[in-house]
Amino acid sequence: QSSVLHKFKGVIFSTMSSEELLNSLDSFEAREDDVFLVSYPKSGTHWIAKVIENIPNARLTLTPPIELGDISKFEELKTYCERRVIPTHLSYSMLPMNIKQKQCKEMLCLGIIYIVRNPKDTAVSFFHYYRDNPNLPSIETWHEFFDLFLKGDVVYGSWFDHVLSWEEHKNAKNILIISYEEMKKDPSKNIKKITTFLGLNVTDSEINQIAWKTSFTEMKNNTAKENCDPNHTICALTSNRNLVFRKGAVGDWINYFTSKQKRVFDELFTEKMKHSELAKHFGDYS
Ligand code: A3P
Repeated sequence: QSSVLHKFKGVIFSTMSSEELLNSLDSFEAREDDVFLVSYPKSGTHWIAKVIENIPNARLTLTPPIELGDISKFEELKTYCERRVIPTHLSYSMLPMNIKQKQCKEMLCLGIIYIVRNPKDTAVSFFHYYRDNPNLPSIETWHEFFDLFLKGDVVYGSWFDHVLSWEEHKNAKNILIISYEEMKKDPSKNIKKITTFLGLNVTDSEINQIAWKTSFTEMKNNTAKENCDPNHTICALTSNRNLVFRKGAVGDWINYFTSKQKRVFDELFTEKMKHSELAKHFGDYS
């Protein structure tokens, strides 16, 4: 294990998530109107965050990830006045107690948006992140990374465990599941789902405007302007947005997986995801 990583409850974390903070997650105080933006790394978190930021008159403020930094994080999170949008890559089991227990009050309800992406593309995207991100250990080859990914020996642990932990709660009325692939296929439809879930009224032309502003090309071209603002960190593994916009495509895995790797992966996928409803959705993409 490298010096940039440590283990907490059996799961690998970056040292930018201090042990003290991880140990104290249960002391986080959720608000009735909080929105959590949850995902396994490389599932499209920056994309959905940008969609939310572009909703007109939404009165929402994007905060840094809940698991980034030290114990002062909870005091900092209290200082936000507007409705908070809090990103996190935590699995359901590690999510602060207080978030799970918050009950809805009348119209207000704490909301959780879970973003999921097909695991082969997620693995390839993660491989590049490991290679390019100085906050992650260096990795030599795709083969090496493939094995780590399958074993769950990567930051935030196994993709399978993460998705399954959230899948159990997918029918909760305050959880919205958004998939990367559906978002690619029909951005406007999925942006509408998000605004409706957040209880915000948006016109069709506003939706189209959001879709345009959050297209891959547009976001990639704007990274230079927005780069390295520590207050605009969405993934606890970096605040450097240049590392995020790589290819933005569905199906890039085909350029990396050998036929043997595909077979091994599919076997594990079938075994782990046999009861998963979400997994059915990936059938078309893998
Ligand atoms: P690739 O590495 O496959 O290109 P996250 O935001 O969770 O870190 O996920 C990053 C992945 O989402 C990267 O995938 C990135 O290119 C892709 N992505 C970011 N913004 C996107 C957008 N507007 N449209 C499509 N993909 C996007």
